[in-house]
Amino acid sequence: MFPTRFLLFNSFVILCGGFILSSRDYSKILRVPNGGQYGYWSQAEFCPLGTYASGYSLKIEPNQFFGDDTALNAIRLLCSDKQGHRNITHQISSVQGPYGSWSKEEVCLQSYDVSSFLTAFQLQVEPPQGAGDDTMANFVHFKCRPFGDDPALNETILTLAPGHGSWGTWSNWTESCDANEAICGIQTKVEQVQGSDDDTALNDVVFYCCE
Ligand SMILES: *[C@@H]1O[C@H](CO)[C@@H](O)[C@H](O)[C@H]1NC(C)=O
Ligand SMILES: *[C@@H]1O[C@H](CO)[C@@H](O)[C@H](O)[C@H]1NC(C)=O
Ligand SMILES: *[C@@H]1O[C@H](CO)[C@@H](O)[C@H](O)[C@H]1NC(C)=O
Repeated sequence: MFPTRFLLFNSFVILCGGFILSSRDYSKILRVPNGGQYGYWSQAEFCPLGTYASGYSLKIEPNQFFGDDTALNAIRLLCSDKQGHRNITHQISSVQGPYGSWSKEEVCLQSYDVSSFLTAFQLQVEPPQGAGDDTMANFVHFKCRPFGDDPALNETILTLAPGHGSWGTWSNWTESCDANEAICGIQTKVEQVQGSDDDTALNDVVFYCCE
């Protein structure tokens, strides 16, 4: 359970912000088995009611060569309603690492009669390096699908160039959100800043599916 102060803090956010929700009814949590071991799970964030993740961008620290690498620091989801209308103020990320810069946005196919949304993911993670430089999570891929379509038949893969991070190996694809559901929330596990010690930033992430 989250401490009471988090609940109070989030009630405050709901009252004042009006667009990022700290809770929402969800049906499923999508997880990978290879997430990194460092850091803490933060509070989940959800798209506003009636909206779902239609795209994303990644905050990645470029290769530091002889410096301390952290690779993936944050994932930002873009929220759109079922018709694909996006409000650019509706973006969710949960807690972010401080390093790197935001990529361009990648958005699921949106045409005049079909809107697609994020429905599954896979995570590229570097295993612990012992005395070497750890980075943990490096990159993420998503699948997209229109509401109502068969998860087994109609999913397409969405990725950002170059399609992979510098280090680590990919998990399998997670299970998918059900046919009438899509990703609506994110919760990250981020290691706090380590000062002169080895930083890893984002270690693991889960996504929530909503009807
Ligand atoms: C976007 O969302 C904000 C906050 O919920 C709202 O104030 C604003 O009117 C919305 N903009 C559009 C174009 O719907
Ligand atoms: C989903 O897949 C089925 C079977 O392949 C196909 O008939 C249908 O047109 C697809 N729907 C979309 C929106 O692509
Ligand atoms: C992916 O799934 C297959 C089949 O369940 C399993 O044998 C394999 O070990 C998995 N790979 C990873 C990287 O988890």
